[in-house]
Amino acid sequence: MVLRLAPDPEEHRIQTGWPGVDRVLGGGFVPGSVVLLAGAPGTGKSTLLLQLASALTGAGHPCLLASGEEARGQVAARALRVGIDGSALAYVPGRSLGDVVESARAERPTVLVVDSIQTIRDTASDGFPGGVGQVRACADALIDLAKENDVTVLLIGHVTKQGDLAGPRTLEHAVDAVLTFEGDARSGLRVLVGGKNRYGPEGEVAWFEMTSRGLVEAEPSTRPGRDGQEAGCATGIVLAGRRALPVDVQALVVPSDGPPRRQVSGLDPRRFHIVAAVTAVRRGGGWVQAGGPGRGSGHGGGPGVRRRGPSAAAGRPPPPDRGFIGEVALTGSVRPVPGAEARLSAAADAGLRDVIVAKGTTVPSGRTSGLRVVEAAHLRDALRWAMTK
Ligand code: TYD
Ligand code: MG
Repeated sequence: MVLRLAPDPEEHRIQTGWPGVDRVLGGGFVPGSVVLLAGAPGTGKSTLLLQLASALTGAGHPCLLASGEEARGQVAARALRVGIDGSALAYVPGRSLGDVVESARAERPTVLVVDSIQTIRDTASDGFPGGVGQVRACADALIDLAKENDVTVLLIGHVTKQGDLAGPRTLEHAVDAVLTFEGDARSGLRVLVGGKNRYGPEGEVAWFEMTSRGLVEAEPSTRPGRDGQEAGCATGIVLAGRRALPVDVQALVVPSDGPPRRQVSGLDPRRFHIVAAVTAVRRGGGWVQAGGPGRGSGHGGGPGVRRRGPSAAAGRPPPPDRGFIGEVALTGSVRPVPGAEARLSAAADAGLRDVIVAKGTTVPSGRTSGLRVVEAAHLRDALRWAMTK
């Protein structure tokens, strides 16, 4: 059979009613798509998909939950805990691929949730559940099910401590979209990040808080914290998806008796160490007012978050209401970063007065009124500006 590729009159999306989730997906789930939700054990993947399944079912999109991770009673207990009427949700034990596919064909849900791809087993394939062969065979069968029946399939996948998806990486290529759910076990904050997406944006982000009664969507503050007035604190304007946010980065420099060490929390340590090395070599003289030479000072990673080391070492705060936008190259030159317009308008909304940007940044007129935008071509210039009133 040969088909014509006429565009659909109107692209249809299944909206979850959770604004952040719909934004990360690019407007909701595409019918018949297969979405992988990856995350470390304990981040709240099962909770998120249970809450989404309940919201979707309530909105007239019936969902079928297949759990190989937990027994029906455990899923029911979670539903009770988060205040969901479990009796409205369809459930099938999810250890056997055959059972799950058969139930989905019979029930014809809009959305099938499989928790998890590592616990489901295809009796026609060799190997143990979670192994490469099983994960691939089960994913293939579920992708076929999605495409043939127009059922949206949501697969939960565990990632290892190293951050890799347990089972084959080919799974990421086979599915239509990969979302990751991340969170720090010590805090309630959770972040849903859009990765590969055939039908939507990449890198879009939604924030949640894990409460005693499930996940609640949360919005990050668009104003820098009050710590911005302290020594060792600077505000970078970073992109999270298409949105720009002011982020306070803090550094503390202390004399050390033993060999100096750099500790990082909340930043990518690899990028941090690169920027710290670049700063140590390329900063030029003249800014360190206190602290012994060669003492470890904290510098930053990620665009626009690398200017607080000098302030911490000098023991005095940078002038207030100042933000930074740029990327530091290994040579110490400061380069423009994408999203300058969004970042500058976020800086203006956050009440910043001065923003130091990379030379060559396209500064839009209009929305940035009230901001003083200063260009820096090199780390040296940026650092000088950083500490100049
Ligand atoms: P869970 O969804 O089981 O995580 P995953 O499927 O990713 O392994 O939930 C993980 C943790 O969240 C669990 O340790 C307990 C906590 N939690 C809450 O704090 N509040 C809640 O309402 C629920 C359901 C779980
Ligand atoms: Mg789980």
